Amino acid sequence: MRYFAARRNDTAESPIRPDVNQQQAIVGAYSALAASYDEFDWTPVVTRARDYVRSCLMRRVGPGQRVLELNCGGGADAIAFARAGLHVAAFDAVPQMIEIARRRAVASGVADRVQFDVMRNEDVGRHDRRDYAAVFSNFGGLNTTEDLSDVFATAARLLAPGGWFVVCTLNRHAAWESFSYLVRGQARAALRRWGIQPKTVVLGGCEVRVRYYTPREFVHFLPECLKIREIAGLSICSPPLGSIRFASRFSGLTNVLCGIDDVIRRVPILRGLGDHFVVVAQRT
Ligand SMILES: C[S@@+](CC[C@H](N)C(=O)[O-])C[C@H]1O[C@@H](n2cnc3c(N)ncnc32)[C@H](O)[C@@H]1O
Repeated sequence: MRYFAARRNDTAESPIRPDVNQQQAIVGAYSALAASYDEFDWTPVVTRARDYVRSCLMRRVGPGQRVLELNCGGGADAIAFARAGLHVAAFDAVPQMIEIARRRAVASGVADRVQFDVMRNEDVGRHDRRDYAAVFSNFGGLNTTEDLSDVFATAARLLAPGGWFVVCTLNRHAAWESFSYLVRGQARAALRRWGIQPKTVVLGGCEVRVRYYTPREFVHFLPECLKIREIAGLSICSPPLGSIRFASRFSGLTNVLCGIDDVIRRVPILRGLGDHFVVVAQRT
């Protein structure tokens, strides 16, 4: 699916706009993708991955507590948290995403517990509350952010002491993706996330700069006050989140592979081979 898996040669029907500015490109890309956003949450691999990332937060915070979500997209996670009794402030750079999220919150009957607003990750410092029990980001919304150290340091200041930082990001060394390209004889595509960053990716007809990290590189951006508690891989044995064909063609096998992922996702080395990985850190 283009939402996740767009590559430089996945040229969409619309023309590629010049990459004048990363933020404009992000807004252009995700505005174009917003309309098909709902499709994305129906695939079983995505559902299982979401459940796992959400559980990283839900195991640690309880009803009545406040969560700040960055790059919330269409609001799937924010709404799930609100349903569980949390109070959520959720942001995304793209107005169309926020519109979708607001409509979904109303339809889900949780509009009183979740507030959606337009804000870039880079502007998180404008937010003035300092009492969040958790800061959350899912499925790669941080990979398009230029200066992660700054965003992380600012976000950490919004956490109450003992608060949780739960973020899920695109991995650099995604074994399944590389292997599947290699068996099709596409060596260059197999290494598309590797090497010098950022990479230029076509999303919704716009060129967006995406940075892929290894877990080790990613945690390097955490400020001292955030202590790592867990790192786990997603889609290590199971197909990448954007892969629909394999998962629908071999649904039984996909379920088995997802089950294997559940067992191995925290194993050092293996956790660095998934399509995404999750980092859980705690504010001291
Ligand atoms: C891959 S989607 C993930 C969305 C959502 N977190 C989810 O799990 O469905 C990436 C989202 O990040 C948003 N985004 C990308 N760069 C951003 C930035 N610099 N600031 C805020 N939002 C951003 C996009 O608009 C998009 O909604």
